[in-house]
Amino acid sequence: MQKLELKGVNKHFGDLLVLTNINLTIEEGEFAAIVGPSGCGKSTILRMLAGLEEASEGQVLANGQPITKPDPRRTLIFQEHALYPWRTVEQNVGFGMELAKEPKDERKKRIDEILEKVGLDGFQKYYPHQLSGGMRQRASIARALVLNPEVLLLDEPYGALDAITRLAMQNELIRLWRGTGKTVLLITHDIDEAVYLADSIYVMSPRPGHFIQTLHADMARPRNRNGQKFVELRQKIMDNLDIGSYSI
Ligand SMILES: Nc1ncnc2c1ncn2[C@@H]1O[C@H](COP(=O)(O)OP(=O)(O)O)[C@@H](O)[C@H]1O
Ligand SMILES: [Mg+2]
Repeated sequence: MQKLELKGVNKHFGDLLVLTNINLTIEEGEFAAIVGPSGCGKSTILRMLAGLEEASEGQVLANGQPITKPDPRRTLIFQEHALYPWRTVEQNVGFGMELAKEPKDERKKRIDEILEKVGLDGFQKYYPHQLSGGMRQRASIARALVLNPEVLLLDEPYGALDAITRLAMQNELIRLWRGTGKTVLLITHDIDEAVYLADSIYVMSPRPGHFIQTLHADMARPRNRNGQKFVELRQKIMDNLDIGSYSI
């Protein structure tokens, strides 16, 4: 399993300073969330941890080693599912294993296992356009999980889903995380989602992004969205985001 760290990280794209002095440690098996306004550099942090982007200054580490390139142990899942429309669910989910030239029987076994885990058993032969949005997102999560990564980097994974599907997917993610002990870093603009899911919540400022608050959600699961602790934590985050002061 993996521990992730960013130490004194700055990131600029040309003249645009996007992140400044980012310090973050996510322990093995922890469920962490980052909340922040649009454009503050959240996706950039995930892309650095995924090995897709380099820090301009500072260190980005997994188990103390610099992250320099993508690694199947750390997988990035986006808001928009990225399934191939011409492949069935099982062909999409099995794509990585196919590339790795794993034997067909083994592939089939693992695909079926993972589809069951994400609630898509029976949909092996369906094409993406025959699925609902929630099912497509599950298939895309299954495709990441089938390679058994140690770290899930989730970039607003439920942003495109309707509110009810979203709640169901949040419960599913918790089940999955509890069942596997993976390290999870979730980016979300949904404050409730962060408080419902994460152990640690990092709140970011507008660009140039930096952390303005770290909170520990010390609550048993499943969490009650109307419980006193939950409501207090949500309010603390709202206060720090200072939404009233943003120009839109
Ligand atoms: N590859 C890139 N080249 C230039 N600018 C980029 C690039 N990626 C991101 N940016 C800029 O960095 C800022 C932060 O982007 P991003 O990390 O996607 O923010 P967030 O995910 O918090 O909305 C934005 O202003 C965006 O335009
Ligand atoms: Mg983003």
